[in-house]
This record gives sequence, structure tokens and C-alpha cells, in this order.
Amino acid sequence: MHDTTTTLPLHGGHTIPTLGLGVWQMTQSEETEQAIMYALSVGYRHIDTAKLYGNEESVGKAIQQSTIPREEIFVTTKLWPTDAFSAETALQDSLKRLGLAYVDLYLIHWPIPLFGDRVWKQMETLAQQGLARNIGVSNYSRTQMEELLEQATIPPAVHQIECNPFTYDRKLIEFCQQHNIVVEAYSPLTRGLHLDDATIVKLAMHYAKTPAQIMLRWALQKGTVVIPKSSNKARITENADIFSFSISADDMRRLDALSH
Ligand SMILES: NC(=O)c1ccc[n+]([C@@H]2O[C@H](COP(=O)([O-])OP(=O)(O)OC[C@H]3O[C@@H](n4cnc5c(N)ncnc54)[C@H](OP(=O)(O)O)[C@@H]3O)[C@@H](O)[C@H]2O)c1
Repeated sequence: MHDTTTTLPLHGGHTIPTLGLGVWQMTQSEETEQAIMYALSVGYRHIDTAKLYGNEESVGKAIQQSTIPREEIFVTTKLWPTDAFSAETALQDSLKRLGLAYVDLYLIHWPIPLFGDRVWKQMETLAQQGLARNIGVSNYSRTQMEELLEQATIPPAVHQIECNPFTYDRKLIEFCQQHNIVVEAYSPLTRGLHLDDATIVKLAMHYAKTPAQIMLRWALQKGTVVIPKSSNKARITENADIFSFSISADDMRRLDALSH
């Protein structure tokens, strides 16, 4: 078992595990349930799904079949923009599919410019009702974050954005962190596209780690949460083994330079 239990504080008083299992492109299937149950068995305590992914039922079944108490697992799902006219209906439908009474985090999956402030008001109501313990956004620009913060009564707890050494928006991350908004790094493994990059491979050899572990560790050291996706037991285990080494400041700068 790896030390997968590190967390970051959220401004509402809850905490979020810094490692989560992303489940985009995992079908609603027994195979997905098995992968999620396996992840829970090796220490993952955080699952990132969305209505769009079409696998909330599998996520719920895996949680119910595991021996881990519900309150120890951090579950995220997301509001798809076409459901913006009634976020409550959308979340209730997600909760039904998940078989849960609440989610730990409900995110607006993509910015919804025309409905922006009205949607956030609905999100705040969901938090007040306890249906979502925390609320947040995904794929917002810096300007959209500023607009949201101006009108929010409950500020977003989390911003989920693409983040890896090849797609690194340092200014947006710093802006969020200055406002106590936890950044979640999605596609932290570049969807597998850059795992054979020469710098990544060289550093992996230097630290006696894998390219995936180098990318995930880089994101952790940036203060973000990581939600790598894998359906494969060996890779699920590998992606959790990122808490027992650190990347030097010089090597962090080498990795930062990959996004220029
Ligand atoms: N908010 C948003 O708009 C948004 C957008 C994209 C993603 N996300 C979230 O972020 C999660 C992760 O992002 P992602 O799915 O785009 O991509 P990712 O985690 O960067 O990469 C996943 C890919 O890498 C492979 N992989 C996993 N571990 C590996 C390892 N150790 N070595 C080599 N290959 C490995 C996986 O294949 P195997 O399964 O075969 O291992 C899969 O093909 C998603 O699942 C989703 O939850 C959110």
C-alpha cells in the first residue's frame, strides 16, 4: 500500500485527496467496476467522473462493492452545459446513477457564458442543500475566474484544468492558489502522448521512476491534485507510487521548460 492519503484543505473545511482516479473513456462495465475497486484496494480514495463519461453507475457500484466506508471516498461528478437550466435535476440524476446521497465535489464541466451567474447560484444552492459538499469549475480562463469570484457568495473550492509539463498555465494556477482554490490537474499524463519525451525519459532514469511517475510528481510539487486515468492494474499501482520521492528544483525547472 502506498501513502496515497495525502490531502489538501478546501476552503469549506473539507479536504481533498491529492491523488484521484480519472475515469474518462472508461465504459459503463464490469471491467470499469473492477478497475475502480482495484484502485480503492491499493489506496486511492478519490474518483473523478462526470455525467458526460457515461459511467457513473459503474463508479457507484464499485464504491458499494468495496469495503471502504462511503465517507472515506471523495467522489466528483460534473454538470454538463446543456443541463445548465436545472443543475439540481442534473445532480439528482447523477446521484441516482451513482447510488449516493451526496457528492464530495460538483464541477461545472465547461464555462457556460450566457448562463454564468445563474448557474453558479444554482451550484451554491446545491452546496447549501448538502447534495454537493463542495462546488467548483473546470476549464475556466483567468478572466472567467475573476468574474465568477466577483459574483460568488460561496467561492469555487476547486478549479480542474489540463495541467502537465507540456500544458502548464503557471499564472492561472498561481491565481487560483492565491484565492485558496485548489487546482486539479487533468490529463496529467498528457493522455499518454508525451511519455516518451527525451527529457521525461532522462529524468525517469535519473530518479529510477517511470515517465508517468515523473509527470505526476511534477504536478504534485506544483501543489495540484492529480487524477490520472488508467484501466490497467499495473499502471493504477504505478501511478499511486509518487509520494516517496521528490524532484529537485533544477529538474522542476527543466520540466517547466517543456511547455515553452
Ligand atoms: N474537466 C475536464 O474537462 C477533463 C478533461 C479531460 C480529462 N479529465 C479528467 O482527468 C482524467 C485524466 O485525464 P485523461 O484521461 O485525459 O488522461 P491522462 O490521465 O493524462 O492519460 C490517460 C492515458 O494514459 C495511459 N496511462 C495511464 N497510466 C499510465 C502509465 N503509468 N504509463 C503509461 N500510460 C499510462 C492510459 O491508458 P491505460 O488506461 O491503458 O493505462 C490512458 O491512455 C480523466 O480520466 C478525467 O477524469 C477532465
